[in-house]
Amino acid sequence: MARLRTAILISGRGSNMQALSEACAAPGFPAEIVRVIANRKDAAGLGIAAQAGVATRTIPHRDYPDRAAFDAALDAALRESGAELVCLAGFMRLLTAGFVEAWRDRMINIHPSLLPAFPGLDTHARALAAGVRFSGCTVHYVRHEMDTGPIIAQAAVPVRPEDDTGSLADRVLAAEHRLYPLALRLVAEGRARVAGERVVLAEAETPEVALLNPRG
Ligand code: GAR
Repeated sequence: MARLRTAILISGRGSNMQALSEACAAPGFPAEIVRVIANRKDAAGLGIAAQAGVATRTIPHRDYPDRAAFDAALDAALRESGAELVCLAGFMRLLTAGFVEAWRDRMINIHPSLLPAFPGLDTHARALAAGVRFSGCTVHYVRHEMDTGPIIAQAAVPVRPEDDTGSLADRVLAAEHRLYPLALRLVAEGRARVAGERVVLAEAETPEVALLNPRG
């Protein structure tokens, strides 16, 4: 079976990009990374991608007069790479409605909360302030409003009484690195279909148990 040609957009560290690229390197994985694109020259993930032998490109948003011009350059680079799917992985730029529409149901994002709770920035601080007992991460198809769109997969992690934003972010990030490859596999195998702004999964198992925090 042909592997799904996937591009990854990053702005910084690139640890989710690395998790996706490692998953794609496994024999039989149904997707391949054809390009990693960063909007910042200093994105650490660019070096990680290059070391893994993945083609990279930098398109600095500051080189463009406005969002529409930047998004047009991004769109051209993605098309030139032959990408069929775009994965946002810590890509911290708002995308125009036109760009999002052009890649509708062909662009996915990971966010470090159980959406629709805590979209946007300072996610972990807001989760701690709200006193939730679980947080987690979400992979979803991208819609124009930030961190919205049909949900493909989620991972829940417990919040501990002693947590600060750093410890919570680390625990969620470890879950992100498991969740994003799982979601990419579901999409690449055509098992995560959008129907009426929800995702219908095919041949995917739902866990039986309820997690309690504190433990009962
Ligand atoms: C990740 O935690 C990702 O979920 C988050 O940025 C981090 C990027 O880390 N994304 C968002 O907050 C999107 N709204 P990484 O560069 O190491 O993958």
